Amino acid sequence: MASSNRSLLVLPGDGIGPEVMNEVRKVIAWMGKKRAVGFDIAEDLVGGSSLDAHDTPLTDAAMAKALQADAVLFGSVGGPKWDTADFTKKPERGLLRLRKEMDLFANLRPAKVFDALVDASSLKPEIVRGLDIMIIRELTSGVYFGEPRGIVDLPDGQRMGFDTQRYTSGEIRRVCAVAFELARKRKNKVCSSEKANVMHTGVLWRQEATKLHAESYKDVTLEHMYADALAMQLVRWPHQFDVIVTDNLFGDILSDEASMLTGSLGMLPSASLGAPDATGRRKALYEPIHGSAPDIAGKGLANPIAETLSYAMMLRYSFDLGTEADIVEKAIENVLAAGYRTGDILGGGIDAKAAIAKGLKPVGTQEMGDAIVKELDRMV
Ligand code: IPM
Ligand code: MG
Repeated sequence: MASSNRSLLVLPGDGIGPEVMNEVRKVIAWMGKKRAVGFDIAEDLVGGSSLDAHDTPLTDAAMAKALQADAVLFGSVGGPKWDTADFTKKPERGLLRLRKEMDLFANLRPAKVFDALVDASSLKPEIVRGLDIMIIRELTSGVYFGEPRGIVDLPDGQRMGFDTQRYTSGEIRRVCAVAFELARKRKNKVCSSEKANVMHTGVLWRQEATKLHAESYKDVTLEHMYADALAMQLVRWPHQFDVIVTDNLFGDILSDEASMLTGSLGMLPSASLGAPDATGRRKALYEPIHGSAPDIAGKGLANPIAETLSYAMMLRYSFDLGTEADIVEKAIENVLAAGYRTGDILGGGIDAKAAIAKGLKPVGTQEMGDAIVKELDRMV
């Protein structure tokens, strides 16, 4: 393929990461062939696989490649094999280093319910049908990175573990700005979430969100909700939300919860974006919100849709290829409508036999990838 001016670093990582990435490669190849959307692709190790090969979850060389690339497509990291690794060498540290050094402060986690999957959610169909919310999680600060942190011995013989939750006004404002901007292109509503009732960071978060709103985004509806109440409202009546903006830890938890509205963690992509530079280009990393799923890794059972949707988000946000992103998303929608299901989206408690009786097509990772490419061929 001719060299393109788009550079992409692929980091498949551990567990199901490499398997789902293989399916995305098929879609990448299709895009190159059929729509002339090519990439200069570099690849490297991250997480446990990097730890095994290089004794670090991310080498400086891989970090440098990520900083240079127009976009990074990430799989997943971690697994029981590395559970006992030193804290600073845990597979997850590789991902956290990428987020921090690329300064990817805005993590966009859409939770969109495909019509065909309304029954795969553990919630009632009328609660989730047509749902489309966007969680924006602050990704480079808060308790994930705050200092001091550690585990120390106390004089009385006990041990004490501690982490620091911290936010500056600038960190809060820049992620809230992303939320307001995005809301303007959607239903124009932002729900900002923290625990201002018990945490100083929460008090500051609420004040800064309110101030920024009054200064520059009065046209957007802003509401505030404590994170615990939001967790409850998300399953009670999720349709009340459009854009949710929240801190690193609450965002981690709430986005996992939101994934269940859509039927499976295997369905949700994410985009992690930095600030635009002088040319308007943002550093960016795209990853499914699911983890490495060691229990099913290597068995061909993983759902490649979240990774494929992450690639679609990359087309949209890093390369302004909205039409191509739409095509990929539509192909996935059609494949689901045609009944293709990996195990995670079969629907609660249904086995393959019962699924077939219902007209569904239980498939593995590769068959799902092939079905998506075949549908792309049919559509275009
Ligand atoms: C996520 C994951 C990560 C996180 C882990 C793998 C470090 O759970 O992206 O949501 O906690 O941020
Ligand atoms: Mg998480």
